[in-house]
Amino acid sequence: MAYDLDQFIADCRTHLSRDPGPAGREAVRADLERLLANPEFVRQHCGEDVPRGLKVLYEDKALGFQVLAHINDKARVSPPHDHGASWAIYGQATHYTDMIEWEREDDGSDPKHARLKPAKKYRLNPGQAGIYQDGRIHSIDYPDYARFVRVTGTNLDKINRIRIDLKTGEVHQMTPQQAT
Ligand SMILES: [Fe+2]
Repeated sequence: MAYDLDQFIADCRTHLSRDPGPAGREAVRADLERLLANPEFVRQHCGEDVPRGLKVLYEDKALGFQVLAHINDKARVSPPHDHGASWAIYGQATHYTDMIEWEREDDGSDPKHARLKPAKKYRLNPGQAGIYQDGRIHSIDYPDYARFVRVTGTNLDKINRIRIDLKTGEVHQMTPQQAT
């Protein structure tokens, strides 16, 4: 039987109960790739017929993690941002996302300004998942209709996060629903 959402959620619970750190998250990332290899899952939750929006597919009341489907119609380039004290795993369902991971060149002592340099650039293609650990800064760039599934350690709307204006270096607090 194909690897489905229920099985994936059960495996996330197992992995993150056993090890909420990087090893447990890496197991979740690998299983997200298994889930995205199931064409029926992709069609049902991320297919062209699925209405646009951000869908919470699952939230774990005990462990706090969320599984989200980002059903995009319009291309977008995000500013560099972190996921606060959480982590995030991005799994590409359709089309692609170009990722940049950023490093801070400054010492982080000024809460209002940051100087960034790109550390890693790559493309996530359908079926591929990338992981962004606590405090890592990344930006995303995707074309029309690119759809992805994200697993976050907690509901990101409830924690403080930052985004950085690349031109000015200004650091801004992110508001809820600037989810990615
Ligand atoms: Fe992100």
